[in-house]
Amino acid sequence: NIPNKATIIEVGPRDGLQNLKTFVPTNAKIDFIQQLKKAGIKEMELTSFVSPKWVPQMADAPSVIEECLDEETRNFVLVPNQKGIDRLLGTSCKNAAVFVGVSDTFNKKNINKTTEESLLELHPIIGDLKERGFFVRACISTSFYCPYEGKVEVSDVVALCKRFESFGVDELSVADTIGMANPKESYELFSALKKALPSIMLTAHFHNTRGMALANIFAALQAGVDRFDTSAGGLGGCPFAPGASGNVATEDVVYMLEQMGIQTGINLKRVVKALENLLPHLDKQYESQYFKLQGTG
Ligand code: HMG
Ligand code: MG
Repeated sequence: NIPNKATIIEVGPRDGLQNLKTFVPTNAKIDFIQQLKKAGIKEMELTSFVSPKWVPQMADAPSVIEECLDEETRNFVLVPNQKGIDRLLGTSCKNAAVFVGVSDTFNKKNINKTTEESLLELHPIIGDLKERGFFVRACISTSFYCPYEGKVEVSDVVALCKRFESFGVDELSVADTIGMANPKESYELFSALKKALPSIMLTAHFHNTRGMALANIFAALQAGVDRFDTSAGGLGGCPFAPGASGNVATEDVVYMLEQMGIQTGINLKRVVKALENLLPHLDKQYESQYFKLQGTG
């Protein structure tokens, strides 16, 4: 039951850049986003409204949003709490991505609340956003392993996802935050989620820390998943998850899918162009097989 079409949700401008030490100039971020849209990206996390003290790279979120909203793309902003929502409501963006960890210790380190405290805060927020006509995505971190607590149980992930569904979210993005999952675990978790939540939009978010991401995506495809968070150039990682490294590279995923006859609507040459423009502003190289073969970097 492998699908013949898949949707790529580009998270490079947010997940990809948030962990970089050297500040990427706002104009370079905006150019990157615009080039990726020209490459055919239709859903993208633009930036996040988090504390600039915790994540300085995202301090220019208001300017990025101001320049990058458009009608053709589902443009997401990541928000952790009411303060983030207040800032989001000051923009014309209508797509919110809330985030929470299955594991308490990770959630504490990432947003200074337990998972239950985050849920208490997010429940009315999600209701309010839905009333205002927002599309709401919930990003579920540490769905396979937690850097502090180890293995996470499938039943705990399913239970947390069910709660978000009952709060009214449109989409669940289920994440392997530190890239520890294997294809068997990917198939098992996504099969369980498809069974428990058959009508929700389900997305897989893999980090490639141990080189397992493409295999995990193939396993998720077999479980019926057709939406994947990816990051151009394979940049990425959560600053509060030790051991987290880049997200799976958009180019490598698009290449794999297209070679398998699964349409993505993404033009790889244009993704490479976007990456070439961004590269001079980065303090690291890309982690993408496709870019290494095709690009000049
Ligand atoms: P806190 O210190 O507990 O918050 O941080 P607070 O409510 O006590 O406020 C402290 C200060 O932060 C105050 O400012 C607030 O105004 C400000 P001060 O009075 O000191 O000047 N503040 C904010 N400023 C801007 N935007 C906000 C906001 N909230 C409070 N939304 C907080 C709590 C959540 C803010 C903090 O822990 C934080 O910013 N954490 C960053 C989390 C983050 O960005 N992590 C990376 C993204 S998640 C991820 O990468 C995982 C994902 O990719 C999936 C996966 O791979 O697993 C999605
Ligand atoms: Mg991530």
